[in-house]
Amino acid sequence: MKTLTVDLPGREYDILIQRGLLDRAGEHIRAVCPRARRLFVVTDSTVGPLYSARQVSSLAAAGFETAVAAVPAGEESKNASQLSALWEEMMAFGLTRSDAVVALGGGVVGDLAGFAAATILRGVDFVQIPTTLLSQVDSSVGGKVAVDLDHGKNLAGAFWQPRLVLMDPDTLDTLPDKTFADGMAEVVKYGCIYDRDFFDFLTARPSRGELMDEIEHILYTCCDLKRKVVVEDERDTGARMLLNFGHTVGHAFEKAGNYETWTHGQAVAAGMCVAARLGVELGITPAEVPEQVTAAVAALGLPTRIDCGWNDIVEAIGLDKKSAGSRISFILLEELGRAAAVKMEKETVLRHLEAVYRQM
Ligand code: NAD
Ligand code: GLY
Repeated sequence: MKTLTVDLPGREYDILIQRGLLDRAGEHIRAVCPRARRLFVVTDSTVGPLYSARQVSSLAAAGFETAVAAVPAGEESKNASQLSALWEEMMAFGLTRSDAVVALGGGVVGDLAGFAAATILRGVDFVQIPTTLLSQVDSSVGGKVAVDLDHGKNLAGAFWQPRLVLMDPDTLDTLPDKTFADGMAEVVKYGCIYDRDFFDFLTARPSRGELMDEIEHILYTCCDLKRKVVVEDERDTGARMLLNFGHTVGHAFEKAGNYETWTHGQAVAAGMCVAARLGVELGITPAEVPEQVTAAVAALGLPTRIDCGWNDIVEAIGLDKKSAGSRISFILLEELGRAAAVKMEKETVLRHLEAVYRQM
């Protein structure tokens, strides 16, 4: 088993990575929640039928009483009315402050269940059991939990760190190819922003089979990078912003497609290609990098370019959560494997972005 510790003072937690770990979830949760009697498991309508029975029997064997709530699969479930329904179900189940909430699913379930855990009874313990590649390499680590509002994604939320993250790479076997590729966009992002060798390691393995042969190393590397940045900047005011490489323009693509046409990973993939070109245009990124990023993205079957209205991009720059006043921190590559948050006038970004985007 591979183990990492997120060293947040007073709120340390482990990330455990091992094939078959789902069947031992109970004993690992018992070790971090010794007083808990009840576990409220949140899953979704796809993951529940695949994995919740195995999970529940492992929890029961460790002496937990469990309830399972399955929300409809998909982003539409990450909203305030599902949150409120979960709160009521938790109370009906008899959840107390010494009990815990478990998220079994992808990032949607993790974000929703995490926000429910952060808020029910003013906060109870929370365990992440991520089952998508995206949630294993990104969303289950770092404590960002949220629901979407009509005004936009993730607008109501909290920082609520889990007590434990359990990753069973075998759960990835049932992911559709498109969802696997989605997660790979975030994996490639780690290579782009932090680790050139890891980028090369990934691009040498373009097929899903080859990547799955190395999946424990891939999960470990991504989570190791993420835990370091979370410890340095838990509240996302500095170093953690680098994780947003590809995301600013990516958000414009996602929004333009009404969050239906393009998945998050597809939008981020195309967003990284735009950001690499923007970096060259601004004299920050070496000229050869866009081709390298684009080739890595294309090899995974992800889009290197997405059409959207120019206004969608203007809006994403103007409304971006990272922006303050007339300036924006845009994440650019100083080289492949090293990113920087470059603070610029929004107008400057837009002018160069327009030149880049129209040429692509
Ligand atoms: P998701 O949770 O919707 O999962 C994608 C699809 O895969 C769903 O239909 C789900 O039912 C299905 N699925 C999940 N596990 C499966 C499995 N093992 N086998 C078969 N099907 C499975 O989406 P996601 O891509 O995991 O996460 C996206 C969400 O994560 C977004 O809401 C995004 O905002 C959020 N996110 C949060 C953070 C964070 O730091 N909290 C970071 C990145 C993304
Ligand atoms: N996924 C971005 C973050 O956790 O900060």
